[in-house]
Amino acid sequence: MLSKKQARTFFLGGTLVTFLAFIALTIYSFSGSQDQTNHENITEAVIRGKHLWETNNCMGCHTLLGEGGYYAPELTKVIDRQGEGYIKAVLMSPVPWAPNGRKMVAYGFSKEEAQDMVDFFKWIGEIDLNGFGEVVGVDRTRSSLSE
Ligand code: HEC
Repeated sequence: MLSKKQARTFFLGGTLVTFLAFIALTIYSFSGSQDQTNHENITEAVIRGKHLWETNNCMGCHTLLGEGGYYAPELTKVIDRQGEGYIKAVLMSPVPWAPNGRKMVAYGFSKEEAQDMVDFFKWIGEIDLNGFGEVVGVDRTRSSLSE
């Protein structure tokens, strides 16, 4: 059993050590070399693409960074998976794009809008996700449809 004095020393010492660890880790997390946000590559086009993403309810069906609806493919790494041309074709199509059964909304985007959306996908695809993208790059929609 610890005496009262020993218990107090143990408590204060433990608190100090964990507090210092907390401060050190906070400084480390916010240091420039740990920046994974890719914010320096946010251009006007990326912002316009993000706006299109928000105002067209893409998230109602798709996920980005794992967040959103599970009806349609996860899109964080869609540039790597499908390429720019394919994505533009999907977004500019006058009829619902649905080679795999489920229907994508026929937005009929203009060339400029499709380019902005692609720039947004390029930006988000380049965020350092510590390997997360490789997990969600697997298309859940497709595997469930093929069953
Ligand atoms: C009503 C649900 C729905 C909404 C809303 C929706 N999508 Fe889709 N989208 C789909 C489905 C389903 C597919 C898969 C079609 C297929 O491959 O058969 C798809 C496919 C795609 C693809 C191709 C992905 C791939 O891996 O082949 C892209 C890119 C895409 N959508 C972007 C968008 C964007 C950008 C928006 C918003 C502007 C949006 N979608 C809104 C349902 C939706």
